[in-house]
Amino acid sequence: MEKLSRKDFLSNASKAAVGLAAVGGLSSIITTASLKAGSKVTPWPWPYTQLDPEAVRIQAHYLYWNDKDCASGTFGALVQALATAIGDPWTNLPIETMLFGRGGGAGWGTLCGCLNGGAAIISLVTTKSQSTPLITELWGWYNSTMLPTDQANQVAVSGQYLVHNYDQALPQNISGSPLCHISVTEWCVHAQKKVSDVERKERCARVTGDIAAKVAELLNAHFAGTFVPTYVDPATLTACMGCHGSAVLNNVMTKMECTQCHGDNPHPNSVERIDPVANSFELYQNYPNPFNPSTKIRYSISKQEKVTVGIYDIQGSLIKVLVDHELQSPGVYETVWDGTDFTGAKVSSGIYFSRLESDSFMKTIKMTLVK
Ligand code: HEC
Ligand code: HEC
Repeated sequence: MEKLSRKDFLSNASKAAVGLAAVGGLSSIITTASLKAGSKVTPWPWPYTQLDPEAVRIQAHYLYWNDKDCASGTFGALVQALATAIGDPWTNLPIETMLFGRGGGAGWGTLCGCLNGGAAIISLVTTKSQSTPLITELWGWYNSTMLPTDQANQVAVSGQYLVHNYDQALPQNISGSPLCHISVTEWCVHAQKKVSDVERKERCARVTGDIAAKVAELLNAHFAGTFVPTYVDPATLTACMGCHGSAVLNNVMTKMECTQCHGDNPHPNSVERIDPVANSFELYQNYPNPFNPSTKIRYSISKQEKVTVGIYDIQGSLIKVLVDHELQSPGVYETVWDGTDFTGAKVSSGIYFSRLESDSFMKTIKMTLVK
């Protein structure tokens, strides 16, 4: 190959850029190329027609076992049904487009491949704003439904699938998550099966059918004008997003149930029992005081009680909770206030109060933050 100097390269590249500009930008090039090839461009969203969810289920199960796996299985069954019913453009779409989605993305266990493939079809046939509630409904249903469904097991037991590697009813579970990792792993533990077992593969084949059938059902309803969203965010998620969502901290993006990964107590109190012996209830003066940026607050309780330690500003508003109604054994405790409020923001210089409240005791101390 002829060597190009950097100068030659730049000069050729700029000629090419002039060429691009001459035909009016990239979009017109694509259109021109397509017209040259003699094919017509189908505008998005693509056409849809009412499908038989049960036929789609059986085809998705078949594709799963015929090397298309979960994502292309779900996607492929719907594409093939639409290609048969409508023809072009569906006949020109390789179902292997979604192969990457297998095993939650080439085995990474992220988004369930069936959901990935199913949502791709929804995105192809609906507008952006129409697709959101449909996808949310699909994923929410997946989170909260026994999978594989009773129907999927029933089809197997009655021998209606086209592939017969395992025809008995399979154990079912609710994963509570759209993630392949959680869905498959919890099923394996629940069913006492290995990932490599035929039952696990058949389980994912049936789920592939379940999701394909569900997508057909949702889209049938959408196009018939009868789709009604039923999924609501779990109450725990709404509670967490009260602070972590856009109204306050705005630092978390997910619709997944938070406590599944973070537990019920994501903000453990940073309080330490430094002596198991205490003869009285007391709240001691913080130290250092004045302080910047943080200060230690020590207290003692002489019998087991529920304890709360809060920080208040000069107006008497509660700005932070250091110990939250925690049942504590007798002893001397120490906790730290890092000079931040509920939102994690650093508060300004000034006078603050720390109050200890237990079932039988209450005391307030005055603290000074000097920056
Ligand atoms: C009252 C407001 C509030 C609510 C409600 C809330 N958080 Fe937080 N969360 C915070 C603040 C403030 C921080 C600390 C931010 C900082 O210091 O940078 C935080 C930090 C975290 C962290 C980081 C770990 C840590 O200790 O710093 C996780 C994880 C977290 N929250 C999860 C949750 C989950 C899950 C829920 C629901 C069960 C939840 N939060 C509810 C305010 C809240
Ligand atoms: C599928 C598991 C999963 C779910 C569901 C999930 N998280 Fe997380 N989250 C993680 C992991 C893993 C990290 C990163 C590891 C870490 O820092 O703890 C993280 C990090 C965070 C952090 C930053 C932690 C830090 O140390 O600063 C916050 C805040 C947080 N998540 C809040 C939430 C909230 C609120 C929800 C629900 C609306 C939620 N998460 C749902 C797994 C999850």
